Amino acid sequence: MRFAINLKYGNKAIIMKYQKITNTVRAGIDTDGQHGAVMPPVYLSSNFSFEGLGGKREYDYSRSGNPTRDVLAGAITRLEVGHGAVVTNTGMSAVVLVTHLLKPEDTIVAPHNCYGGCYRAFSSLSGAGRFKTQFADFTDTDAVRRTCLTHRPRIIWVETPSNPLLRITDIRAMATIARECGALLVVDNTFLTPLLQQPLSLGADIVVHSTTKYINGHSDVVGGAVVAKTPALLEKLAWWANCVGSTASPWDCSQTMRGLRTLHARLRCHEENAQAVVRVLNAHGAVGRVHYPGLTNHPDHHLALAQQSGFGAIISFELKGGEPEVRAFLDGTKLFTLAESLGGVESLVCHPASMTHAAMTREAQHEAGIRGTLLRLSVGIEHTPDLISDVSAALADASRAGLGVVSFG
Ligand SMILES: Cc1ncc(COP(=O)(O)O)c(C=O)c1O
Repeated sequence: MRFAINLKYGNKAIIMKYQKITNTVRAGIDTDGQHGAVMPPVYLSSNFSFEGLGGKREYDYSRSGNPTRDVLAGAITRLEVGHGAVVTNTGMSAVVLVTHLLKPEDTIVAPHNCYGGCYRAFSSLSGAGRFKTQFADFTDTDAVRRTCLTHRPRIIWVETPSNPLLRITDIRAMATIARECGALLVVDNTFLTPLLQQPLSLGADIVVHSTTKYINGHSDVVGGAVVAKTPALLEKLAWWANCVGSTASPWDCSQTMRGLRTLHARLRCHEENAQAVVRVLNAHGAVGRVHYPGLTNHPDHHLALAQQSGFGAIISFELKGGEPEVRAFLDGTKLFTLAESLGGVESLVCHPASMTHAAMTREAQHEAGIRGTLLRLSVGIEHTPDLISDVSAALADASRAGLGVVSFG
C-alpha cells in the first residue's frame, strides 16, 4: 500500500442524515386516502378534471404538474435542503433548464473539464447567441476569480468532483466569488448525491442532478432534477420547465423514486467496494497512479474532507505501459462492463480517451491529464471479494501483457 485511504468518515453521512433518510424511504407512503395503497399510486394520467367552471384543482395537466412527480421532487428537495425542485426528463434538460435564466448578454463561467454534454450544450447555445460562455480551470480558485471579475458572469457552474480525474472544486470559495460578482452559483451534484455533499449549505443557489446516475441507481431510467434554494428561483425554473416541456414522465418519476428510497443503503455498499478496489489498485505494480479523493496523496484530499461527507465510488487510475496493458485489463475483467455511464448497481469501466472524452482533441486531453492509459471505474454493489478477485485478475493480465512497447503517447 503506497498511500492510505482516509477512513475518517465511516458512515457519518448516513448517521448525520438519519431523519432525512427515514423521510426518503417513506416518501408518499400510506398517503392514498381512496384505497389505502401503501406505496404511492403512479398517476399516469396526462389530464385532470376541473370541479366545475373555474374549478381548477391542484393539478390540471401533467406537463405542468403531476402528483407522482411531486413525490420525487419533494424527496430530492428535502435531501438537498432546498426550497423546491423541478424534476426533468434527462440530466441534460436539467442543465439546459438552468440556462433559461440567462439573457443573450449574460455570461456563464464553467469548468473547462465539465461533463462533455454540458460542454457541448454551453458551447452550442453560446454559438447560437443564447448567452456567452467562458471556460476556466476550477481547481485554480484565483484563475476562476480573475475570469469572473473580467466577465462578470450571471452564472458560475461547478461540477465537483471532476470527471474523470476526480479533482475537487472549493464550493465555499466559489460562493464567495459568486457573491463578489453578483452571480448565481450552480453545482452539478450528480457524482456525490445529496447524501455525500450538500452544495446549498455550502453557498450554492441551485443544484443540478442527472438522476440517471446514483439517484435512480439501476441504469434503467434517464432523468434529471434542478433544486432551487429560494421560492423566486423555483418559480422561474418551474415556469420555464412547463414552457419548454422538460418535465419528467410520471412513470420515470415513480421508478426513480423507487431507486432513491435505497440510495443510502446502496451508497454505503458502493463506497465500501470502491475503497476495497482502491486498496488493490494502490498496491499493484501494474498501476501507475490512482485518482481517488479518499487517498491521502490526492491533491484535493483535505478539500474533500472539508466539504464532502464521503468520497464516492468513482475511481480512475493509470496503467503502466500502453495499449496492450489497457486491452488486457479490459479483456481480463469479467465484472466491470465496458460502458460510459456511472452510478448504477453494476460495476462499469470506461476508457475516457476513446469514450467519454473522445470529442476533445489529443492536445486538450493531454492538457486535462487524460492519457490513453487512464481508466475510470464506477464501482457497483456486487459482493466485495468478487470485485477484489476480478480486479486482481485483470491487473495480472495487464502485467503479463506488458512489455509496454505500444504506447498511446
Ligand atoms: C455530471 C453530469 N451531469 C449531467 C449529465 C447529463 O445527464 P443525462 O445523461 O441524464 O442527460 C451527466 C451524464 O453523464 C453527468 O455525468
